[in-house]
Amino acid sequence: MSLCIGLTGGIGCGKSTAADLFARHGAGIIDTDALSLSLTQTGSEAIAPIRAAFGDEYITIDGALDRARMRKLIFTDSVAKQRLEDILHPRIRELARQQLLQLQNKPYIVIVVPLLPESQAFRQMVQRVLVVDCDESTQIARVIARSRMLPDEVRDIIAQQTPRAERLQIADDVIHNDGGLDSLAAQVAVLHARYSNMQNNN
Ligand SMILES: Nc1ncnc2c1ncn2[C@@H]1O[C@H](COP(=O)(O)OP(=O)(O)OP(=O)(O)O)[C@@H](O)[C@H]1O
Ligand SMILES: [Mg+2]
Repeated sequence: MSLCIGLTGGIGCGKSTAADLFARHGAGIIDTDALSLSLTQTGSEAIAPIRAAFGDEYITIDGALDRARMRKLIFTDSVAKQRLEDILHPRIRELARQQLLQLQNKPYIVIVVPLLPESQAFRQMVQRVLVVDCDESTQIARVIARSRMLPDEVRDIIAQQTPRAERLQIADDVIHNDGGLDSLAAQVAVLHARYSNMQNNN
């Protein structure tokens, strides 16, 4: 099996941007946010269990998850959040495993998992953890710039995520993403060289 790197980081730290740069070097990329989104679309086999657990009002007339409504619920209801994760996470992992097999021709694979610090199961899928890190002020500024959120809304999300110091403790490698895109690209290039020369010893 190819070397598999788990890429994580707080909201807006630059996970997706870093993953795009690794892709340009030829790495295989698995995006668990995209897998999660696909599982909540019309026709997904996760819709029936979500409907059974939460009721019809959380499913749109098209048969997709009403994501805005669910987001509101799970932001304040940790039991509901856990129930949704119990439905989605095993399925996300299964889809990720399928993609992993399809990407075995790549020199190594980067799997983007925002919840990596919280998920023992996901950490068992990867051989190394790469954390994209930046200051909270950078995070807030970047998230505001790309969406219409208010600073306090971003702070609330950051407060719900694993604390920065804890995330850094599980890191084998760290990208410091307070600089510009050139700095990010330079760090990705160094890591690409390192990962390309590493064997998967698992
Ligand atoms: N080094 C950088 N310089 C300038 N802008 C950056 C840099 N890194 C990321 N950005 C910008 O910051 C925003 C957040 O980056 P990105 O979407 O990659 O973060 P993310 O960790 O994937 O966020 P999320 O947790 O929401 O998925 C994007 O608009 C991106 O273009
Ligand atoms: Mg992202």
